[in-house]
Amino acid sequence: MEKLHINTQDKRGFINRNIYGHFAEHLGRCIYNGIFVGKDSSIPNINGMRTDVVDALRNIKIPVLRWPGGCFADEYHWRDGIGTDRKKMINTHWGGVVEDNSFGTHEFMELCRQLDCEPYINGNVGSGTVQEMSEWVEYLTFNGESPMTNLRAQNGQKEPWCVKYWGVGNENWGCGGNMRPEYYADLYRQFATYVRDYSGNKIYKIACGANSFDYNWTDKVMEIAGRYMHALTVHYYTVPSGEWSKKGSATEFTTREYYSTLKKALRMDELIENHLQIMHKHDPENKVDLIVDEWGTWYDVEPGTNPGFLYQQNTMRDAMVAALTFNIFNRHSSRVVMANIAQTVNVLQSVILTEGDKMLLTPTYHAFDLYKGHHDATEVYSHSNPGLTGEEDDKIQGFSASASVNAEGHLYITMVNPCDNKALPVEVSIEGMDAKKVTARALAGGITDHNTFDEPTKTKINNFDGITIKDGKLVLTMPPCSIVAASVS
Ligand code: AHR
Repeated sequence: MEKLHINTQDKRGFINRNIYGHFAEHLGRCIYNGIFVGKDSSIPNINGMRTDVVDALRNIKIPVLRWPGGCFADEYHWRDGIGTDRKKMINTHWGGVVEDNSFGTHEFMELCRQLDCEPYINGNVGSGTVQEMSEWVEYLTFNGESPMTNLRAQNGQKEPWCVKYWGVGNENWGCGGNMRPEYYADLYRQFATYVRDYSGNKIYKIACGANSFDYNWTDKVMEIAGRYMHALTVHYYTVPSGEWSKKGSATEFTTREYYSTLKKALRMDELIENHLQIMHKHDPENKVDLIVDEWGTWYDVEPGTNPGFLYQQNTMRDAMVAALTFNIFNRHSSRVVMANIAQTVNVLQSVILTEGDKMLLTPTYHAFDLYKGHHDATEVYSHSNPGLTGEEDDKIQGFSASASVNAEGHLYITMVNPCDNKALPVEVSIEGMDAKKVTARALAGGITDHNTFDEPTKTKINNFDGITIKDGKLVLTMPPCSIVAASVS
C-alpha cells in the first residue's frame, strides 16, 4: 500500500500554467502539414491553421508556444517571412529542404490568437544582427509611426501585437554558433540591449541556457550576463540508449529499456536543482527564473521517414515520462516558470500526429490533459515514501505524485504508477481539508501501447470510478503503467 500525505494548508509555489507550454519549430512536418496547411487546403482550416489541431490544443489549454526554433531560429531571417513576396531558404538543420517562408510572423501571431496562448519568439543571434532582432521587436510591438510599423501596416496589420516572451538565441553552444559561454554572454548583453519595450509592451528577456548537465555554461552566463535577463533556459532530452547514433525505437523496446528511459527522464530533478544552485550563487535574490524550453524523449525516427524530420511514435512510456516530469516541474514551481515540450506536432515527443487530413492524439497529449487541473494553482505539500520498481540497475521510485489547490479551493492530485506489471493500492490522507467529494480520470495501458491512424483511440482517458473516500482518506488501486488525476472538494 502506497501512502500519500497531503497538507493543503502548507502552500508551496504557484504553478505557472506555462510549465505546460509547447514548442513548434520549422522542422519536418511540425509547422507545415501539422499545424499550417494554407488557406486553400482541402483540410478544414481557419486562415490556414488546421481546425482539428487548433481545437485539440485549445482543449489542453496550451498556455504558451515557442517559435520558430530551435536550431532553425538561428538561421531564420524574419523579413523573409512577411509580405507577399517571400524569399525561399534552405532549412540546413532539418533535412536540407526548401523553406518557402509561407508561415511567418503574421501567421504565427494568428496561430497564437486562435490558440489563445502567449507567443514566445526566439530571435536569431547565431547568424542574425542586432539590428534585425531590434527591428523585429519594433515591427511586432511598436504603436506609432516608424519604418517598421509602416511595413507592418502595409502587410495588413495596423495594430501592434503584444509579445512578452523573447529568446535571445538558441543553443548558442551548439547549432546556434558553437560559442563559448563567455562569448555568448557578451553577445547576449549586446543583443538584449536593443530588445526594447515599446508602447507599454513589456518584454521578458530569455537567455540561452545550457545543454543538459553543462553547469559551466550556466555559471559563466549568469556571472557575465545574469543581471540583464529575466530568465535563463536549459534543454534536456531523454535518449533511451544515451547514444545519439542509435537512440532506440519509439515503439519496440524491452521492459528494461522502459525503466532506463524513465530513469533518465527523472534526472530532470537533479538537473533543475543543480542549475538553480549555480544561478543562486550569482543571483542571491533569485530574480532570474529558470525555463526548460526544450524537453522530451528523442528516439530513432520511424522507419522509412526522413531522418531530418525527427518523426517518432509515442507510447504509454512517453505518457509516463511526461507525467513524471510534470510532477518534478510542479515541485519546482517557485523557480521553474515555463517549460516547452519538444515538439507540438509530428516531431519528437509530440502531443499530436497527423497524416494528410487525419489526426491522432498521443498518450503524451492525454498526460497534458490530465495535468491541466494544476494550471495556475498553488502547489501544496505532498509526501510519499515509495519503494523501487524496475529491473537490475534501472530501478526507479514506484510512485510519484503532486498536489495543488486552485482559486476555488479545490484540491487536484496527479498520481503516477510507473510499474509495468503491478497494480498499486494507494491511500491518500489529506490534512487541512475535509474531503467530501472526489472524481477522477485515468490513463492506463501496456508500456508500448500507442495510437495509430487505424486505431486512434487505443490509449485514451477514461473516467476512473475506483476511487472512494473512507474515513476522510482517498482509497484507490492504480492500474499498472497509469496516471490518475483526482479532483477533491
Ligand atoms: O527540438 C529539436 C532540436 O533540438 C532543436 O532545434 C534544438 O534546439 C535542439 O537541439
